[in-house]
Amino acid sequence: MSHSLAQALPADQRLPFDDRKTLMTTSSISAPARHTTSTEATFCSPIVESRRWLEGVDFPSNRPLINVSQAAPTEMPPEGLRQAMAEAALTQVDAHLYGAVLGRDDLRNALAGQISAHYGGAVGAANVGITSGCNQAFAASIAALCSYGDEVIIPVPWYFNHKMWLDMSGVTAVPLQVGTDMVPDPKAAAALISPRTRAIVLVTPNNPCGVEYPAGVVRAFFDLAREKGLTLIVDETYRDFDSREGAPHDLFMDPSWDETLIHLYSFSKAYRLTGHRVGAIAAGAARLFEIEKFLDTLTICPAQLGQIGAIWGLQNLQDWLAGERREILDRKAAIEEGFPQLAEKGWSLLGCGAYFAYVEHPFSQASEDLAKRLVTEASILMLPGSMFMPSGDPAGARQFRIAFANVDRAGIKTLFERLADFNPG
Ligand SMILES: Cc1ncc(COP(=O)(O)O)c(C=O)c1O
Repeated sequence: MSHSLAQALPADQRLPFDDRKTLMTTSSISAPARHTTSTEATFCSPIVESRRWLEGVDFPSNRPLINVSQAAPTEMPPEGLRQAMAEAALTQVDAHLYGAVLGRDDLRNALAGQISAHYGGAVGAANVGITSGCNQAFAASIAALCSYGDEVIIPVPWYFNHKMWLDMSGVTAVPLQVGTDMVPDPKAAAALISPRTRAIVLVTPNNPCGVEYPAGVVRAFFDLAREKGLTLIVDETYRDFDSREGAPHDLFMDPSWDETLIHLYSFSKAYRLTGHRVGAIAAGAARLFEIEKFLDTLTICPAQLGQIGAIWGLQNLQDWLAGERREILDRKAAIEEGFPQLAEKGWSLLGCGAYFAYVEHPFSQASEDLAKRLVTEASILMLPGSMFMPSGDPAGARQFRIAFANVDRAGIKTLFERLADFNPG
């Protein structure tokens, strides 16, 4: 396994870019300076790393692998959507060409309308930019807000790609520990704000913890950000699977929401379009002007066919999506109903919602070691909590994320039976 130098270092020993430059200059007297790249400033992707644990492992036919490591649909989008994309591929010239940097007008319009209706706010097409997936939406937002040495506050446990992008951008991720309910506290965030702070990031429903942040908490973060002249980035990739009916917060109702809020969205989960890479940003027009430079330089425009699929989905799949949401909510219920079996063995359910359950195990061994043993001894692949927090944080050694979206009720039952039987000794 090829770990980078930076990955081998604990987070608190990793240096911000400017410090590294100093180090390289001073140490070059005796030894040639070692050039540290942007990618070396962060760790190996947990998804890539955990896939390596599967290499060379043969799973017995009576105990096939249960993969709860990643939250990605495994089936194709509905046929109508595939047909719309196929038709466009065959007949539309513009489906194959560069398009507008911020995306197709009809998609921007359709999404603006949907956001306005869902959140009861006023969002116009000029407030919406389409990106090549929601990860790119985050990257573009950070590029438009920060420069080297700036700080961004992120709740811990974090979504690892957010942390990786901040590391690679030379932006310090300031960890905000969540409470026992896995929800971050705006007052604790206020205490972390420094002159270099540019933004606060929330993910709701949360990856990895599954919790849906209460509307009042999201509003308090917004008010804090506005008061301090910061931006609040809210990644709502899983909003279509929120258990609450209607708007999960009231930020878009604020007439000047666009001065403080950057809302991120993904078409990946809602319409099973992960491979087509379609995400979105809702923000102020001035912000989008900056974001456009990033997108233009990186991908020039989002892929046309994916956008065409997304428009079709927005216009035709709302009932279907409501059914998908019901199914996910039923799986969440299955986790909650089945959990007492694990609770008896000392496990705790810390959070559950959208695509994820976040759990604590009862064993003395670290979750990273247990995760590898679970692959070979129980045919379960799930990610240790240590992949969602600074290295050395003791909570990570006790926790796991279960990405249950692809496992039905029967699969959840089997998963819990295997975990209940698992005893690392
Ligand atoms: C919180 C969060 N944001 C963004 C993404 C990436 O979404 P996309 O496929 O649209 O890039 C994910 C995917 O797992 C996610 O969990």
